[in-house]
Amino acid sequence: MKISKLTILVITFIFLSLNSQAEIIFDDSYVMQRNLGGDGSYVANFGTTVAFKQPVATMPPALQEKHVTGDGLFEKNFSDDPTRLDYGLGPAYNNISCASCHIRDGRGSLPVINANNEWTKLGQNEAIFLRISVENYVSKTLYGEPTAVPGYSTQLFHLGSYHLRKNSPNTGQAEVWMKYEYSTFQYADGQSVKLKKPLFQIRNPYDLSTDESGQATSRLFKDDVRMGPRMTPPMIGLGLLEAIEQQDILALANRDLSAWGVHGRPNWVYDVEKQKNNFVNVYSMGRFGLKSNTPSVLHQSLGAFRGDMGVTNSFFPDESIAGTPLIENIFPTLKQGVNINDEDALNVVFYAQTLAVPSRRKEYLETDIVAGGKNFKNVGCANCHQPEFVTGKHSIEALSFQRIAPYTDLLLHDMGDGLADNRRDFQASGNDWRTRALWGIGLTKTINARGGFLHDGRAATIEEAILWHGGEAQMSRDKFASLPVDERTQIIKFINSL
Ligand code: HEC
Ligand code: HEC
Repeated sequence: MKISKLTILVITFIFLSLNSQAEIIFDDSYVMQRNLGGDGSYVANFGTTVAFKQPVATMPPALQEKHVTGDGLFEKNFSDDPTRLDYGLGPAYNNISCASCHIRDGRGSLPVINANNEWTKLGQNEAIFLRISVENYVSKTLYGEPTAVPGYSTQLFHLGSYHLRKNSPNTGQAEVWMKYEYSTFQYADGQSVKLKKPLFQIRNPYDLSTDESGQATSRLFKDDVRMGPRMTPPMIGLGLLEAIEQQDILALANRDLSAWGVHGRPNWVYDVEKQKNNFVNVYSMGRFGLKSNTPSVLHQSLGAFRGDMGVTNSFFPDESIAGTPLIENIFPTLKQGVNINDEDALNVVFYAQTLAVPSRRKEYLETDIVAGGKNFKNVGCANCHQPEFVTGKHSIEALSFQRIAPYTDLLLHDMGDGLADNRRDFQASGNDWRTRALWGIGLTKTINARGGFLHDGRAATIEEAILWHGGEAQMSRDKFASLPVDERTQIIKFINSL
């Protein structure tokens, strides 16, 4: 068979174009990039407690004002007293305002566990909660939407309005208690790091009864119930993540990283906006939430109003405990109608989309930091923590076409049994988590000294967070752990410079 020059050209072209789609090429220039959030980054030489509270700098004044209006509602404490103007909270909830979990727009505070590591009850203003569902039930959809625990929902509300539980004022569906399990990681060079992981216990569930054998029982205690802890993440740069083109995320998923054992996948999740606009297919790519289980800042934020606080809105009009026996206790005082109007709700969404990413601080070009940045890629961290994107078009112009460095591929990865919550969430398995963005991470403790790393806040330091990496990240973690101590320190310094 004779192959013409033209055929070869065509084949070469097809090969090259397929290849360029399948491989996201980036050089080492990310190591030197200072303004991780593009032109609208908040530029400062030093970190401060307000570094996460800044609006995207490049927005026009009218939008800056809208941002400030949204901020007021993000910080507003809602009340569960139906005679008050700020009514809306509850009847079951996890906290009273967005800002009391997202402290200074950063992470939430970890519960304080005493020195004897005794079981401690989650009280008011707790920023950690449990997502719950039953396994082995036929999911409502092909997409694997979690199935609510009968009599409960898909989130466990540990707080409640005064009258919700006759004999336990202010308790929600159940009490949640927490303590830690400790372990030690040993490097080959003899150094060791103490690790901790939270354990949870459910007490006093509202449906507690005694079975035939005299055992205390509740639907929550059955074997098919799965519980996954979620610790409040920071709020910066979320609109920019929304502006990343879907095809760029899919291209990252299509890379062949099998030599590293890495196989990122998008989540496909229920989208309340598509539902509201009567789409036939109401699923979108997941980007937000620690398992990428929501598609947009709007869906996540308005879901949080209803779920985390019990503040109903036109997107999520039903009380979070609607259809469960518990709500009957509160019916006499429950006010009809949604608790927050669209204008207010959408201002909060706008606020959540337009928090700037702080620039790296003045030391970002120090020799150690630059060396650590290069090694970050060599040991495979960048296979998931993708540094570079150029955003596409977003309805908020300041977010469009920005060169950003979020350090996430927004994909799900199996992170091993050590991090697993064993609870499915749409396409995410019990081992899967979305790669965390690393921008701003070096300011975590400056913003909130009680904040922690990873999905349940278990890691007190960047080093602990890295050492928990398993599953698809095992090879990368092992390469990190086998580096000499000064090179490990450089990588940690680099991450703290972000
Ligand atoms: C009880 C604590 C709590 C409250 C109150 C709360 N959040 Fe959150 N927030 C969380 C947790 C935990 C997550 C991660 C959820 C998950 O992974 O399923 C989260 C995630 C988010 C995200 C996605 C962040 C990301 O990186 O994917 C946004 C946006 C958000 N919250 C906005 C809000 C807004 C707006 C409010 C107020 C209406 C609010 N939150 C109230 C705890 C809280
Ligand atoms: C296979 C993908 C993958 C690789 C490789 C990987 N990570 Fe991660 N990383 C993740 C995921 C997923 C999480 C979130 C886990 C969780 O929430 O429990 C995470 C979380 C983190 C966190 C905590 C972030 C936070 O906000 O709490 C740090 C720090 C981190 N990674 C650093 C690294 C470093 C350094 C390396 C290289 C040694 C690395 N990662 C390699 C996927 C990866």
